[in-house]
Amino acid sequence: EMDPQERAFQERVDAGQKIEPKEWMPEGYRKTLIRQISQHAHSEIVGQLPEGNWITRAPTLERKAILLAKVQDEAGHGLYLYCAAETLGISRDEMYEQLHSGKAKYSSIFNYPTLTWADIGAIGWLVDGAAIMNQVPLQRCSYGPYARAMVRICKEESFHQRQGFDILMKMVKGTLAQKAMVQDALNRWWWPSLMMFGPSDDASVHSAQSMAWKIKQNSNDELRQKFVDQTVPQAEYLGLTVPDPDLKWNETKGGYDFGEPDWEEFFNVIAGNGPCNAERLNARKQAWDDGAWFRDGLTAHAEKAAERHGA
Ligand code: 3HC
Repeated sequence: EMDPQERAFQERVDAGQKIEPKEWMPEGYRKTLIRQISQHAHSEIVGQLPEGNWITRAPTLERKAILLAKVQDEAGHGLYLYCAAETLGISRDEMYEQLHSGKAKYSSIFNYPTLTWADIGAIGWLVDGAAIMNQVPLQRCSYGPYARAMVRICKEESFHQRQGFDILMKMVKGTLAQKAMVQDALNRWWWPSLMMFGPSDDASVHSAQSMAWKIKQNSNDELRQKFVDQTVPQAEYLGLTVPDPDLKWNETKGGYDFGEPDWEEFFNVIAGNGPCNAERLNARKQAWDDGAWFRDGLTAHAEKAAERHGA
């Protein structure tokens, strides 16, 4: 049974009002937002690593400049989201400690290796495509700072997706070896992209509450279905075969029927046992250690400035 304060809060959420940092909120609402927003931020920061791997090997200067801009955008997305999470009372250092200790998750998709240049196209097209599918509804999230961060992020994501699709368009029109490279990338990235949307609805522990609080507008399976329906025609346009023998248009439902992702693989990856989890976490811990002198310098400078101005 809800107490009067919680009932009033739920009525505000149901009326589509935005909840702002200084307003009353149930402890569970605060906690699940800290969980989701900080892990979203971690995803952006860790997500720079697979793509960063190809900045020095981009095939042209133009592609290098575009990839640099995208990776830089991801860093910015991470910063907006860490700031949104801080409004809920968790510090940046605490969030980093949770990532480095393995307590916090980041999107499963970034635990797969980027083996060829076509992977960079597949990431833009599929991973950023899935991220857009998941982030557009988050612009309507009941928590103000998160919803507003999403507006800016969604604008930049559409550039990310388009540049990825453009890479693949060029390659499928290239040599047979280039087209085979694109098909290979689709074969390796298709299922992990479907897993980005989370476990199936019946295995989703947070969905019911997150939907009641209008944090989550659509269920995991709903968004996964939308992603498949939108992406399969794009794969066909590229002349590619989607690696799912069960994929079939279902006229009655007005969408594709498709196979089950390998949930054992999914839960393995988010438990830390994916192909690149150790490498990704070590890279982040190394960056944290390498940056210690810089953080200390900034802090010392800020303290001296505060003394000088007696702030
Ligand atoms: N990777 C890692 N963990 C995942 C996951 C995934 N793809 N999908 C689900 N999980 C975790 C959840 O975090 C939860 O674990 P936790 O309790 O320890 O946090 C557990 O699996 C159960 O899943 P639920 O469906 O119950 O959890 P949610 O209600 O939180 O739904 C979600 C999962 C849809 C990913 C939701 O958290 C969400 O929308 N997050 C914000 C958006 C986001 O993170 N998008 C992907 C990031 S990729 C990106 O943005 C970078 C792009 O710019 C390239």
